[in-house]
Amino acid sequence: MNDRNRQPDRNRPRPGPPGHPSDGLTDGRLVELHSQLARDKDEPAQGFSLTPIFIVFLFCGFGFWAGLYLTRNSGQFSAAVFDLDAPKAVADTGPKIFEPDAAKGEKLFLVNCAACHQPTGLGVPGAFPPLAASPWVAGADERIIKAILAGLAGEIEIKGAKYNGNMPNVSASLKDAQIANIATYVRSAWGNSAEPVMDTKVAEIRKAIGVRGQYAPKELLEAHPLETK
Ligand code: HEC
Repeated sequence: MNDRNRQPDRNRPRPGPPGHPSDGLTDGRLVELHSQLARDKDEPAQGFSLTPIFIVFLFCGFGFWAGLYLTRNSGQFSAAVFDLDAPKAVADTGPKIFEPDAAKGEKLFLVNCAACHQPTGLGVPGAFPPLAASPWVAGADERIIKAILAGLAGEIEIKGAKYNGNMPNVSASLKDAQIANIATYVRSAWGNSAEPVMDTKVAEIRKAIGVRGQYAPKELLEAHPLETK
């Protein structure tokens, strides 16, 4: 057999230039590697792809916006429009100071509380205790804030009548300021005359009690005894 007539062996290592990375690669392995690489790559894009078109639209949109902006704000490009001495807009300095707002509180009360305690604040005998002239509502505001935030369940006596109901908590659905406004309203409506409630007080108590179950009325009374009977 003449060596020169032998078909090249596909799996024979091809002698590349010394130090060349293909050193030691067989033809078969090369073909395999190539097809692997070809699979990993996207097909070469023909013509255009969608991205440039999208950018063209973006620029058109931007141009349109710029046109609108100029039409509205250019002041006809008149030099007279630019007034160096124009008074600067008064900056809205600092955070807004909360003012307890009984009118806002009333609206929230009608949505969140009146179904049980009634718009009259008189409650429903045997089921929902009155808030009008209730000693729970008057005096220190911690009691009512906690009751609103966490809810109440268990026996409670209001103005000589016993109730054993279940008041849901609203801490998740109402913000500090909203709860402050509701409490402010309840404490000033129907002949009640207790101090307004601040949102910071609600925030402080919300933080202190965390997310918790309903209070038993007894527990709340121990922490915040009634000032009036
Ligand atoms: C689903 C009915 C229901 C809703 C809604 C409800 N309450 Fe009550 N509330 C009750 C019941 C029942 C009690 C008595 C709880 C008990 O028996 O332990 C109560 C007790 C109270 C008390 C203490 C007792 C009193 O009469 O002074 C206050 C204050 C109070 N609720 C205020 C509110 C406020 C403010 C809202 C709205 C944010 C509200 N409640 C929403 C049912 C409700």
